Amino acid sequence: MDAIRVRGGRSLVGTIPVSGAKNAALPILCATLLSDGESTLRNVPALRDIETTSALLGFMGRRVSCAPPVVTVGSSGPVRPEAPYEFVKQMRASVLVLGPLLARYGKVRVSLPGGCQIGTRPVDQHLKGLEALGASIQLSHGYIQAECARLKGAEIVFDMPTVTGTENLMMAAALAKGRTTLVNCAEEPEVEELGRVLNKMGARVEGAGTHVMHIEGRDALDPFDHAVIPDRIEAGTYMVAAAMTRGDVLVDGAPLEHLEALAAKLRKAGVEVSREGGGVRVRVPGELRGVDVTTAPHPGFPTDMQAQLMTLMTLAAGRSVITETIFENRFMHVPELVRMGANIEVHGNTAVVTGVAGLEGASVMATDLRASASLVVAGLVANGETEVRRVYHLDRGYERMEEKLSRVGADIARVRGAEG
Ligand code: EPU
Repeated sequence: MDAIRVRGGRSLVGTIPVSGAKNAALPILCATLLSDGESTLRNVPALRDIETTSALLGFMGRRVSCAPPVVTVGSSGPVRPEAPYEFVKQMRASVLVLGPLLARYGKVRVSLPGGCQIGTRPVDQHLKGLEALGASIQLSHGYIQAECARLKGAEIVFDMPTVTGTENLMMAAALAKGRTTLVNCAEEPEVEELGRVLNKMGARVEGAGTHVMHIEGRDALDPFDHAVIPDRIEAGTYMVAAAMTRGDVLVDGAPLEHLEALAAKLRKAGVEVSREGGGVRVRVPGELRGVDVTTAPHPGFPTDMQAQLMTLMTLAAGRSVITETIFENRFMHVPELVRMGANIEVHGNTAVVTGVAGLEGASVMATDLRASASLVVAGLVANGETEVRRVYHLDRGYERMEEKLSRVGADIARVRGAEG
């Protein structure tokens, strides 16, 4: 198993390019199932989750060329509308094939995603929505089995905003007969991006990226050519890394308009965040101060940035109270940060961080993507050597992280075949 070895103490200076957004590319790849013909996706990050989705589409019988930054998907005969456990256990986002397959083929069998490290993560809202569109759904032997005649537009009110739930329903509604209204939708930029792609395919989606969406279904949809938006969470992670090392970094391509909640907290903490060219420049002119953060659905503070921000707070003056409201088990970085010398106390879904003078390098590991990223960020400033193990989590969501960081001055390398 690979590990990342970091020797802390160097300020990051220079430019870090941002890759395409993982969580935008995944639903768009699944949207290719809605039409025949060849669709082309550009600015796709080279990540394990992209490979897994491409392999899943290939398993179903689609003709896939996965050569990031370009992925093409076309049809090559009959499709097997099925996502077996072998795929879903590697990547929960495989559940995004449910809506398009059902709408297109009237039948689907998808392994029920179990919980994962960060929480139980049910998919009841996806299923409730598809039932409202006319699907009959059974859960048996760990699989979701759904069938329908043609789906029919309906009004669906989500109990809570769910990103992939909203996306699944958008894709299903795009081929349903008549008009669907989705209420209490997730407003994340990746949802808005899927709306843009569905409209390119000929669907009529209004309001994607807002609370309420209207979708006029079509009998058939066209293939598309689309370049994916930049990854706001990757960008945000590098913004925090720059601040953590008191560096001066241009995060090139960082979409500041999607990062307002993070930028506001960073500024309050004493970080200078400014738009420069097509990206965001980050510097720390003075002392870092503790700030309180509560995660929330977009446009609130993203749960996917909570671990990284907490890491920054370990070195900020004073106390920060960080509350996680989206996933019930997203503090797995805490014990590892404490092993590196951080002062953090957890009470339920709240972590109280008291700034310390410095962190110490250690062998650490995390079993979640963003938690792993936060440990690399901690390693950048820790005294001595930090080895972040189980890097396959990082490889799911960060394209060439060690290369991007070493180009701006970090002493970081991948260790092949390290201890697990
Ligand atoms: N929820 C339900 N029932 C459902 C669906 C969701 O109770 O049917 C709950 C969840 O348990 C959670 C909340 O609703 O408490 C929000 O979860 P959501 O469905 O929005 O999460 P997701 O769609 O499974 C996506 C991202 C995650 C990101 C979350 C929250 C993708 C592929 N994944 O997950 O990304 O953390 O939204 O923003 O888009 C990551 O990239 O590291 C990652 C975990």
